[in-house]
Amino acid sequence: MTQVENKAETQDTPFVPIEKLVALCKRRGFVYPNSEIYGGVAGIYDFGPLGVELRNNIRRYWWWTMVQLNDNVVGIEGAIITHPRVWEASGHVENFVDRLMDCKKCKRRFRIDHLPEENRVQNRCPVCGGELTEPRTFNLLMETYLGVVEGERMKTYLRGEACQNIYLDYDNVLKSSRMQIPFGICQIGKAFRNEVTPGNFLFRQREFEQWDLQFFTHPSEMQQWFDHWKERRFAWYKGLINHKDRLRLRAHGPDELAHYAKQAFDVEYQTILGWQEWEGIHWRQDWDLSRHSQYSGQDLGYTDPNTKERYIPWIVETSGGVDRTFLYLLLDAYEEEPDPAGKEPRTVLHLHPWIAPVKVAVLPLQKNKEELVTTAKGIHERLKRLMVCQYDDVANIGRRYRRQDEIGTPYCVTVDFQTLDDQTVTVRERDSMAQERVAIDALSNYLRDRVMWQ
Ligand code: GAP
Repeated sequence: MTQVENKAETQDTPFVPIEKLVALCKRRGFVYPNSEIYGGVAGIYDFGPLGVELRNNIRRYWWWTMVQLNDNVVGIEGAIITHPRVWEASGHVENFVDRLMDCKKCKRRFRIDHLPEENRVQNRCPVCGGELTEPRTFNLLMETYLGVVEGERMKTYLRGEACQNIYLDYDNVLKSSRMQIPFGICQIGKAFRNEVTPGNFLFRQREFEQWDLQFFTHPSEMQQWFDHWKERRFAWYKGLINHKDRLRLRAHGPDELAHYAKQAFDVEYQTILGWQEWEGIHWRQDWDLSRHSQYSGQDLGYTDPNTKERYIPWIVETSGGVDRTFLYLLLDAYEEEPDPAGKEPRTVLHLHPWIAPVKVAVLPLQKNKEELVTTAKGIHERLKRLMVCQYDDVANIGRRYRRQDEIGTPYCVTVDFQTLDDQTVTVRERDSMAQERVAIDALSNYLRDRVMWQ
């Protein structure tokens, strides 16, 4: 994706400019540029205190729905570095390439598959109209070396897609977990790509995290499981977003298919960058297990315990990005609500309460009234054992609500003078800003029901 193509906007709810989100993420401690004091590294980011909470929630929720709730799915966590032959067998050494052209005039770089057709044909830069160079091919795998003695060091790669560990461990999982086909293996883990055009914040990075399900099936049941997971994954994303009309499933054309895929659908989300991939659902067939059988010399076939039929299982893959989910959920949640009195707009993150980084903030109405502070601190002490809870007594109550709105905290609990009389607090809901009185004794259950997935 270049900066110039694919801009789209609906009139009723404008898309959030990426720069606004970048600024909020840095200001409030979600995301920082990596190595910033040295000038930064393109396509690599660090996550701050709120970012790490949000990421953990997103990951845990995925794991809960994909592994914990499915009796026929288990999880693994593989290493980032594998034997180099893995990447020959997977086809990445040969096929994992981007072709690009540079503009001789403005020096911008473009992936050929992202260039508008007319610019490709005319060999013209889509930004300044300058002449483009001849296409060049780059492999995206990041190289590294094992061993310390020069000449004996082995070149290998940081994994270019996290899922390869699942094929490598598939036979061990079969033998150690009493799983039978059909079954799936999930993993969340880092992947590394020397992207030639990293950019658009977390959208295209060089170090990022993927969540994968690899589902192993008999070839005759492939279609059924492919449809099953395609629908499940689409519904999963839909359940987390506000702008349901900005989500779609799109089938890949034959010229778009990755080297391992016979069929593919993308779950796509629409932002200011246009419609872009969020997760890929791939019909990998027997590509992976056949290739690893061939390259390793180990037969990765499966014998059906009932029919004794032996075959190479076929694979349905669902592969999404944790960082892309992080980015899209923030873009989906961000809103600047105009103030009815014409004051500064209210910036709110309408994040689903299940994944919001801070679940509740406890606010004494005044910080110089000892009884209010003592009660508020007591409530904070109890709540923080159950969920991420912030205590804030700085500035007036309106400012404190705004601060929490901006980071997506679904509930604020205010301890006021009535609390001292009747042991109730004001609970204020982020989106509607509606307030209700809740007894302190009932507060834990009240919040738990609303912010924890079930
Ligand atoms: N194992 C299949 C696979 O890796 P992919 O479509 O290349 O398929 C899957 O990647 C997901 O990983 C994408 O849908 C996207 O969410 C995420 N992803 C891929 N490249 C990325 C990058 N450079 N930066 C951030 N996320 C990326």
